Amino acid sequence: MPLAEFLAELDQLGREAQAAFDSAADAAALEVARIEFLGMKSGRIKSAQKGLGSIDKADKPKAGQRFNEIKQHIDAAFEAAQARLAHGPTGHPRSGSSAAGPRFDPTVPGIRPRLGHLHPLTQTIEELKDLMGRLGFSAVDGPEVEDEWHNFEALNIPEEHPARNPLDNFYLATAARLGEPGALASGSHGPRVAPKANAPGSPRLLAPVPLLLRSQTSTVQIRIMEKTPPPVRIISLGRVYRPDDADATHYPMFHQIEGLLVDRGVTMADLKSMLRLFAKSFFQDDVHIRFRPSFFPFTEPSVEVDMSWQGRWIEMGGAGMVDPNVFRAVGYDPEEFTGFAFGLGIERVCMRRHNVTDIREFYKNDVRFLQQF
Ligand code: FA5
Repeated sequence: MPLAEFLAELDQLGREAQAAFDSAADAAALEVARIEFLGMKSGRIKSAQKGLGSIDKADKPKAGQRFNEIKQHIDAAFEAAQARLAHGPTGHPRSGSSAAGPRFDPTVPGIRPRLGHLHPLTQTIEELKDLMGRLGFSAVDGPEVEDEWHNFEALNIPEEHPARNPLDNFYLATAARLGEPGALASGSHGPRVAPKANAPGSPRLLAPVPLLLRSQTSTVQIRIMEKTPPPVRIISLGRVYRPDDADATHYPMFHQIEGLLVDRGVTMADLKSMLRLFAKSFFQDDVHIRFRPSFFPFTEPSVEVDMSWQGRWIEMGGAGMVDPNVFRAVGYDPEEFTGFAFGLGIERVCMRRHNVTDIREFYKNDVRFLQQF
């Protein structure tokens, strides 16, 4: 083939390929064009390459050079088309679609995001804070990992008390720690120093401080009274942990609301009125509560508070007048101040409120259950 004719055919091929790639509207059209021009077996570039064999030997270098230029030009046109289809009109990558996906169509209705809402227990917690806030109680927080002083000793629960049985609590495995000399126990309940401390001046090995997941929110009573002079009027809401078997009314992790009011002249009548007012406001009149004599080491006298539900009584929480020993442990004068405290199971009041008959429903994360609230 004469050189001039070959070069003209190459130029024509380049123009046609450019036009085909530029006009490809989607990935499928681009693929058709790619096969036509760049196909390995019978693409038009391949045919042109074969045509090189019919060029006179003297003209071959020129024809070959031109062939390479056109081939590069067509490759570049293909890559540009690929990039164009992979990006939106703005030049940014298309979200949710690849080069193989459809073009962005602004007229198609969007996908409505599915909005969730707060868990029923979180809703109950917020409502309890709100209700108790209106009765003058401020919400405070305390740690979920506690030491024995706050979980037991300051609450008048001595070492030999069955509530401290390791099998009835979630103790943590705590290792011995290095401590700075002098930065040790600041009170009777501070970290214990290992009997064989190192030489003076060097860091000392502290005996591991037994730590546990708090088994009740009453720990927060102590933490608040330790740093706040009376009067005190607080609530604390949060998770507590006990190795209880899960059944319809028990779970190994659950929530409590603790209340504490300390002032001069507080009596059991105040406690009972407050809990009745609480139940009346929270359950909107639809509940009877009763007080049953009971025992807690940190209150004297102590009561269990039950609420009526479906023809029977179900325990809502414990309460009582703060024991003078608790006041002594935090440095309050029990001759001058009295107070009441209560601790209610948040799951139980939430169940009663919404007629949920099995506490385990709260923790299954089944959207069909949760979306009812
Ligand atoms: C206490 O935890 C006391 N700290 C309450 C208290 C506070 C008494 C202040 C006096 C003064 P009790 O162990 O009874 O008491 O638990 C209180 C409530 O938590 C129970 O009435 C119940 O509503 C709830 N509760 C207890 N164990 C579980 C459990 N495993 N699952 C779900 N709720 C529970």
